[in-house]
Amino acid sequence: MSSLLCTGGAGFIGSNFVRMVLAETDDSVTVLDALTYASNTASLDGLDPHRFQLVPGSVCDHDLVDELVARHDIVVHFAAESHNDNSLADPSPFVKTNLVGTYELLEAVRRHGKRYHHISTDEVYGDLELDDPARFTESTPYNPSSPYSSTKAGSDLLVRAWVRSFGVQGTISNCSNNYGPYQHVEKFIPRQITNVLTGVRPRLYGAGANVRDWIHVADHNAAVLRILEDGAIGETYLIGADGEVSNRTVVELILDLMGQPADAYDHVTDRAGHDLRYAIDSTKLRTELGWRPSYRDFEAGLAATIDWYRTHENWWRPVKEATEAKYAAAGETTTSPAASR
Ligand code: NAD
Ligand code: TYD
Repeated sequence: MSSLLCTGGAGFIGSNFVRMVLAETDDSVTVLDALTYASNTASLDGLDPHRFQLVPGSVCDHDLVDELVARHDIVVHFAAESHNDNSLADPSPFVKTNLVGTYELLEAVRRHGKRYHHISTDEVYGDLELDDPARFTESTPYNPSSPYSSTKAGSDLLVRAWVRSFGVQGTISNCSNNYGPYQHVEKFIPRQITNVLTGVRPRLYGAGANVRDWIHVADHNAAVLRILEDGAIGETYLIGADGEVSNRTVVELILDLMGQPADAYDHVTDRAGHDLRYAIDSTKLRTELGWRPSYRDFEAGLAATIDWYRTHENWWRPVKEATEAKYAAAGETTTSPAASR
């Protein structure tokens, strides 16, 4: 039985992780979360108060981080500014939270000799051509494109250096795009589902040819638990479920599953520096730790996610309008499909 300090546990992946840990282990969990716009404390409603505690605060707060790390066995670091579009509008919180926050945690686990797992993204590797048979592996060189992915890349490199120079007991995982319940409506899939639910047409950046490698959040978190159990200190593991799909196909699938015509969406202004394709080769995780994804049918996982947003309107409705206003203020406008090609 261990005590886990889970940063960013009021966000999408972290809150799903906390629920999984409490359901599948005897461990206790403390969440340290700055409760930014991206969090939702309702994602943590109903958890056993004997095994779960929420501490509001920032990973950049030296004294708070020191005190919390000192009294837990394991740190799992999910907290981050996580949205590429926001990082283009204002990179500043990305530099602070993703870089300085990771530094504070690393120094604390170094002082107190605690196990540390670092949650990261495949976006640190940059992007691949659409017709390239290659996929990312643990030895792909870092080549990030955006303020988000570059600060995540920097945080990964801090972890590697703290492991090598100071003997920190750390591991890193880089996962592909997650989908599932409790994801903020600024992100691609929940944005389109909640657009349809509110009578707004889905919004596809550019021509929509960009490919993402989708994984259900439960499969990501199961892999993190496997790494905590048997991962080798100092190692990096890529997490992916062979889920490559183009954005246009995702939008058409959502529309079809929600009973709308497949072409009832708009093309909008493309993202600056928009990465073309991500794809993960998770052979190392599968062969060394025996992990396998449970959600192998993307369409079924998407249908379940649509159902979740349909039945949890109270969870997302309060932030929907402000999220769309933010996109409009950033200059998002509809374009013709021809101009997008
Ligand atoms: P999210 O934006 O939904 O949640 C992030 C959480 O971190 C929020 O609750 C927020 O309040 C908290 N936070 C932000 N700044 C903080 C600070 N200074 N101190 C403490 N807490 C702070 O993000 P997510 O999608 O759940 O992503 C979690 C992690 O997984 C991130 O590290 C992200 O880079 C990584 N990741 C995400 C994906 C994805 O598809 N969403 C894929 C691979 C990796
Ligand atoms: P997103 O969920 O922001 O994740 P990431 O940038 O980490 O991949 O976006 C996923 C893909 O969907 C990305 O190619 C951008 C695209 N996208 C749209 O086409 N329309 C949208 O409204 C959003 C938010 C994203």
